[in-house]
Amino acid sequence: MIKKVLVTGSAGFIGFHLTSELLKFGFQVVGIDNLNDYYDVKLKLDRLEVLNEFVSKHKIEEAYRFFELDISNEVTLGKLFKDHSFDIVVNLAAQAGVRYSLKNPQAYINSNLVGFSNILECCRNFKIEHLLFASSSSVYGMNIKQPFSTDDNTDYPISLYAATKKSNELLAHSYSHLFSIPCTGLRFFTVYGPYGRPDMAYYSFTKSINDGVSIDVFNSGDMLRDFTYIDDIIDGIIKLIDHKPACVSNNITNAKAPFQVLNIGNNNPVTLRRFINAIENSVGKKAVENLLPMQPGDVPVTYANIDPLASLCDFRPSTSIEDGIEKFVEWYLQK
Ligand SMILES: NC(=O)c1ccc[n+]([C@@H]2O[C@H](COP(=O)([O-])OP(=O)(O)OC[C@H]3O[C@@H](n4cnc5c(N)ncnc54)[C@H](O)[C@@H]3O)[C@@H](O)[C@H]2O)c1
Repeated sequence: MIKKVLVTGSAGFIGFHLTSELLKFGFQVVGIDNLNDYYDVKLKLDRLEVLNEFVSKHKIEEAYRFFELDISNEVTLGKLFKDHSFDIVVNLAAQAGVRYSLKNPQAYINSNLVGFSNILECCRNFKIEHLLFASSSSVYGMNIKQPFSTDDNTDYPISLYAATKKSNELLAHSYSHLFSIPCTGLRFFTVYGPYGRPDMAYYSFTKSINDGVSIDVFNSGDMLRDFTYIDDIIDGIIKLIDHKPACVSNNITNAKAPFQVLNIGNNNPVTLRRFINAIENSVGKKAVENLLPMQPGDVPVTYANIDPLASLCDFRPSTSIEDGIEKFVEWYLQK
């Protein structure tokens, strides 16, 4: 039977790529997004346009719907769930970004806490087969042990963004335990690629290097990031749809729940220096660097242990930073 998937945040970077790939795999997809102006709304509309062109080219209009909808509005969200019998929900809608949470905390409370609670209530009321939701590597904060494992303690977030993502995992666990909702939390590690987010370093660095404008390099570029190419991320999410967690207790308490949290990263962190070199080579220009100290809320290293995901569904990210950045820059220069 063809599964019906709700993708929240479908005009966003990951949501757009996921929707597009789900349609290629033959799923029915309903996408929702509030099209907020955290970054250029035109990019969100362009992504939606690509999706519309894809469905009309392949004559699969009946497989795809989009609604402009805010997940923090429980009434309209509830009506959407009532009108469509979703099998799967992938919640990607959120206020993203670590630094912006210093400026506009309310946006994180509304989308990531109120919105996510509404998603959980709807999954409870409409008996969803599997809820997958975006968490983040930022929950690891200043974790000392490398690579980051989902067995590590994540009780010490160092940004409001990270605190909301950790809260999502906790809220989902309680719903999963109480109402037997199969839930998978995905800790994404710095996702990048074409149609990516303008607020992220790979995008703003590419723009500045191309325009001959200086780039702010924090902590002298002495940071490691487990950059993960978008196609590898999408491959992992789609494989996971059919891997609902079993109802087991965790290794710390007796609470049984069909719940899992997984790292989804590249397992191959690169220095900011190598990352900047990859952009310089793809753009064909040298960066002008403005060296600055570490920013509050930033972490020195992100490094994903992905063994659990690899053994669960043969997840093997295969895109090097040089190849991935080249694809991004190719898109950036022709957009
Ligand atoms: N891109 C990354 O590197 C990364 C890393 C870790 C976690 N994540 C998480 O993955 C998810 C997707 O990230 P992304 O990079 O695609 O970000 P994005 O900002 O491009 O996409 C999020 C989308 O959600 C929408 N949205 C926000 N609040 C909403 C609301 N209340 N109702 C409906 N729509 C809303 C936005 O308009 C946006 O289009 C987010 O939850 C993010 O926190 C991303």
